[in-house]
Amino acid sequence: MKNIVITGGAGFIGSHVVRLFVNKYPEYNIINLDKLTYAGNLANLKDVEGKPNYKFVKMDICNFEAFYQLMQDEKIDGIIHLAAESHVDRSIKDPFTFARTNVMGTLSLLQAAKLYWESLPEGYEGKRFYHISTDEVYGALSMNHPEGIEPPFKTVASSEGHKAYGDDFFYETTKYNPHSPYSAAKASSDHFVRAYHDTYAMPTIVTNCSNNYGPYQFPEKLIPLFINNIRLGKPLPVYGRGENVRDWLYVEDHARAIDLIFHKGRVAETYNIGGFNEWKNIDLIKVMIKTVDRILGNPEGHSLGLITYVTDRLGHDARYAIDSTKLQRELGWEPSLQFEEGIEKTVRWYLDNQAWIDSVTSGEYERYYDEMYNR
Ligand code: NAD
Ligand code: TYD
Repeated sequence: MKNIVITGGAGFIGSHVVRLFVNKYPEYNIINLDKLTYAGNLANLKDVEGKPNYKFVKMDICNFEAFYQLMQDEKIDGIIHLAAESHVDRSIKDPFTFARTNVMGTLSLLQAAKLYWESLPEGYEGKRFYHISTDEVYGALSMNHPEGIEPPFKTVASSEGHKAYGDDFFYETTKYNPHSPYSAAKASSDHFVRAYHDTYAMPTIVTNCSNNYGPYQFPEKLIPLFINNIRLGKPLPVYGRGENVRDWLYVEDHARAIDLIFHKGRVAETYNIGGFNEWKNIDLIKVMIKTVDRILGNPEGHSLGLITYVTDRLGHDARYAIDSTKLQRELGWEPSLQFEEGIEKTVRWYLDNQAWIDSVTSGEYERYYDEMYNR
């Protein structure tokens, strides 16, 4: 595969995947296809602009004709599909946009790829449709060990050792049970991708990943929003009691996994990708406060008073935790960063890149945020 489309390449994870592929594979022709919604920003990719193996195409993934034409013009043999509406809170307010982009957009890409690849003499030989999905499709896990227990797998996640807050985990075989409109739409798109393999023999792969963090994440998600608010001395809106658990993975480790799976993963397989790194929101928030205060030279505990408990998110999933030992065992992947290193790098990046935050949060986002928190 040499001619590759990466959809959603101007977004958070997509920009890291584009950067990795453009720098690592000079012989490829990498096309970043993105509609540039509020979440897509070409400022995320300034360092790869102008490289001979990189091209940006502004396109909506729901535009079937345009994508079918692009497949033919560029002789596309690989698709890495990340474009999506990705924020759970937005999906609660506006589920239709999520169904349109995540479900209909994915179906549109699948059908265009099918028509083009089936028209070639070699058919599906050497082709690949890789869909990037989320662990949220599996639903919520129990919190039956609120004090934490030792997990059943070896981890590199934290220098202090890793805790699991329940005795169940998401496996590749876990039944889908999505709760939010976001995860329902992602689940539906995963099913369509698998249906194109099972019905038409398209070479597809799906991966389901846990929560990512790192540079270039739109500051409506927990980690960048809170780092920025701590810096500005603004309230930190903690949903419910802050007891919900998420499993955090540094975004570059996800991009490395995507590279490995795109090239070496088995067709028609599902791989879970996770951080082996469960945190209760409130504990993670305290780590962010401590780190930002230290770097800014504030006394310890200075920003703890910003914590503000607010009405819980509707249908808020209690706990996500991934078992990604299949990926470790089959392809030798594991997270490279311990959480302490990852969070330090992330906090420093947001503090050093205020201009980026200002540019992406102007306009539409400000209005959304005001409405969200009734300001
Ligand atoms: P993001 O919101 O930062 O970026 C999404 C990108 O898709 C943006 O560049 C946006 O402009 C583009 N886009 C949206 N609608 C489009 C459309 N109709 N046509 C073309 N482009 C469109 O999202 P992210 O956090 O980088 O997530 C990327 C993918 O990874 C998503 O599919 C998401 O479901 C999945 N994922 C995310 C996480 C996470 O923690 N962020 C975890 C697991 C899986
Ligand atoms: P988020 O970053 O939106 O990711 P996801 O909902 O996909 O897991 O949220 C992470 C966790 O943080 C989730 O349990 C909701 C919580 N949260 C807050 O408590 N306050 C906030 O302002 C946000 C955005 C999230």
